[in-house]
Amino acid sequence: MASISTPLSFLSTTANVSAATSSSFTLFPLQPKRHRYPKSKRHISKVSCNNGGDDNVISKGNRRDVLIGLGGLGAAASFTYNPFAVANPVVTDQNSCGRPNLPAGAKPIPCCPPKATNINDFVFPSNQPLRVRKPAHLVTGDELAKYKEAIRLMRALPDDDPRSFTQQANIHCAYCHDSYALDSTLPPQVKVHFNWLFAPFHRWYLYFYERILGSLINDPTFALPFWNWDHPDGMDIPAIFIDRRSSLFDAKRNANHQPPVLVDLDWNRRGVDTSGEVDKNYAKVYKCIADVKGPACFFGSSFQAGGGVSSAAGSLETLHNTCHSWTGDPTDPNGEDMGSFYSSGRDPIFYCHHSNVDRLWTIWKEKFGGVDLSDKDYLKSSFLFYDENKNLVRVRSEQCLDQSKLGYKYMDVPILWKNAKPKPATNKAQRAALAPTPLNPPNLPLVLNSITSFAVKRQFKSRRKEEKAEREESLVFDVAFDKSKDVKFDVLVFWKGDPMQATPKDREFAGSFVNVSHAPNAKDTTVKYIIGITDLLDDLEADDEDNVEVTLVPQYGVVPVTINNAYVSYDECSFKK
Ligand code: C2O
Repeated sequence: MASISTPLSFLSTTANVSAATSSSFTLFPLQPKRHRYPKSKRHISKVSCNNGGDDNVISKGNRRDVLIGLGGLGAAASFTYNPFAVANPVVTDQNSCGRPNLPAGAKPIPCCPPKATNINDFVFPSNQPLRVRKPAHLVTGDELAKYKEAIRLMRALPDDDPRSFTQQANIHCAYCHDSYALDSTLPPQVKVHFNWLFAPFHRWYLYFYERILGSLINDPTFALPFWNWDHPDGMDIPAIFIDRRSSLFDAKRNANHQPPVLVDLDWNRRGVDTSGEVDKNYAKVYKCIADVKGPACFFGSSFQAGGGVSSAAGSLETLHNTCHSWTGDPTDPNGEDMGSFYSSGRDPIFYCHHSNVDRLWTIWKEKFGGVDLSDKDYLKSSFLFYDENKNLVRVRSEQCLDQSKLGYKYMDVPILWKNAKPKPATNKAQRAALAPTPLNPPNLPLVLNSITSFAVKRQFKSRRKEEKAEREESLVFDVAFDKSKDVKFDVLVFWKGDPMQATPKDREFAGSFVNVSHAPNAKDTTVKYIIGITDLLDDLEADDEDNVEVTLVPQYGVVPVTINNAYVSYDECSFKK
């Protein structure tokens, strides 16, 4: 027996969700073999990174394997995660902007901003009043009137004005649907999802959006509200977005998810939608923010020009994905507006959703000991935005790390999930009694069309405390799927009950892989899902186990989703410098 498979009860409901579109594209242009590189140094060259035909993914995991092959694991412990540095920071080149790579069914749109003859380097504003971003559910009266007026004026600008509503929405389309070349000679495109650009790009995006809105109403104190979905009072769509006559309204939203229905941060699209559950949402936010230590597990994988495509979303991004899909209109083939990245910027709630995501980044640093990345290629990565005076500005990621320098802060709101650490469903003794037979390794590549359990070998067990702090143990999956389709599967570890009953409130619920429709597969067909498990294994009294027992629970998505590899790593979460 290679693995345990349980027949799938979710398929029939999933089929309803995806039936509208699943017939119109080719499912899996992947070779059936394991998606890994032979252990030979020549495969790490720049050429093979970017000239690899249909298989161009060289990620740090692959590099690490190579290094182990060359020098043993001792060497692997100390290197930076991109040891053969042919890479450079991602630099947006306005001249490289081309047609976006849109999913089937999307109306073709040109996403590129107008070209500028001059690009200014960003300078920090001086003598600016502090802008205080408030929870959207607390925005009323004058503040609300100003916000609505600012968006109304933005909507009234002609489409070719870089500050216009359309152009602002298209920024997201261009950066998320492969419009910018990473390097004028290389095929991979600039992407701001599934990698470490996610946090800084979106921070900058909101920053200029907020300044533009403020200037339209002549109010330098104007601050973008945040959708406080981690607080019970903010867990449904804020009332200010619901009024049909308001400039904040967007018609393309899920009709079943109107207030007072609470957002379900673990939304599985099963059966009739019910309201989200406050405690489950707390557990989910706790898991993705408070519980995450390794910077790569929080921010996502490295992403560099010339560095090949290494793709893994951090927990901040993964957490935020569900809200996108939950808000978008399921009767649209791509879940417009919020449910697809090319269209999500057309819903004003998008910016408030991201304001909360940005706030959680700050909270992670201020309250949970999170530390920003220090890699040069991260710090120097740069983006282009038009400011409120229609000047094109080049910004670098390193310039946005100190929020106070950008002149805004978040209103203090109680963080009610800060102690919502999930509890184990079973302890060690109960587990041993429940399932005495050990699991086998996964049968790779594994087509994930049913609940599947297997064992993943660990290299070390019962490490010393310092070692654990130094190198976060993580569970890594190489996942191949169509990126223009929504996908979710859950990862349970040492779970002994009915897998369909596990929820984020269980400690064994290690995480969920979530994709929001974006650019269809071009060159990169595989991404990684990395989950830090050091504390998790301690909490489950499982740190002395030889294997991690894993159960994958597919929740929705166009099949097949294929797991090309599953392994335990001690470097993927950490970006050791
Ligand atoms: Cu660029 Cu919420 O996505």
